[in-house]
Amino acid sequence: VSKKGFFISKRSQAMNHTLPTITDASPDDVMDIISIQRQSWLDTYPNDAAGVSRDWVQARVDGWTDLGRLARRIGKIEQAQDDPDLLYRVAKDDGGKIVGLSIAIRDGDAQVIGTIHVKKSYYGTGLAQRLMDEIIAWSDKARPLELEVASYNERAKAFYRKYGFKEVEGSDALYGDIIPVVTMIRKGSDDV
Ligand SMILES: CC(C)(COP(=O)(O)OP(=O)(O)OC[C@H]1O[C@@H](n2cnc3c(N)ncnc32)[C@H](O)[C@@H]1OP(=O)(O)O)[C@@H](O)C(=O)NCCC(=O)NCCS
Repeated sequence: VSKKGFFISKRSQAMNHTLPTITDASPDDVMDIISIQRQSWLDTYPNDAAGVSRDWVQARVDGWTDLGRLARRIGKIEQAQDDPDLLYRVAKDDGGKIVGLSIAIRDGDAQVIGTIHVKKSYYGTGLAQRLMDEIIAWSDKARPLELEVASYNERAKAFYRKYGFKEVEGSDALYGDIIPVVTMIRKGSDDV
């Protein structure tokens, strides 16, 4: 296959994705949700320079299937089905496989994006944008929307910047005592 042919086939592969369907998560989705999130964490968070080992990430994601954690997650998914302050959405391909996930929470004055993950083969396809557009539509636009992102997760930071999120100076913290994170905020219309 020529170099040119390779690029054409890669591009058409991305374009051949049928548009995933985005719906509320259902408790039946829980194992699939954990599986996409687990892969995404293993792809994204190990980072030697930041001192985040693959073993640490692996141990962290392995804990998600502990019975207590699993039950709490199912509880959240159920809660989101009729709680306007909790958004728990999944994107599924035409075979019903989960290829994207988003979680957002409103708590008092705070509106927080808990997570946006898409399967690696869906990076750059506009799926993450659809999940973000939904979160923005769900949010109270008068108020800020915030999130925490690993400081070295340059792709995610660039993605969030496209929606007006900016890093908050001095917000550096450690997630799980290990992963360096920074807060990013998208101002609400009431903010000066
Ligand atoms: C974060 C995520 C949802 C974004 O979705 P996506 O489809 O990859 O996002 P997009 O392609 O629309 O935007 C990413 C941007 O970063 C740019 N980018 C890619 N790699 C980059 C890098 N190393 N440094 C800076 N920018 C980078 C891309 O060019 C793109 O910008 P462009 O649209 O102007 O070209 C997705 O990458 C993902 O699921 N990542 C793993 C999970 C994760 O990190 N989630 C966020 C947790 S807070």
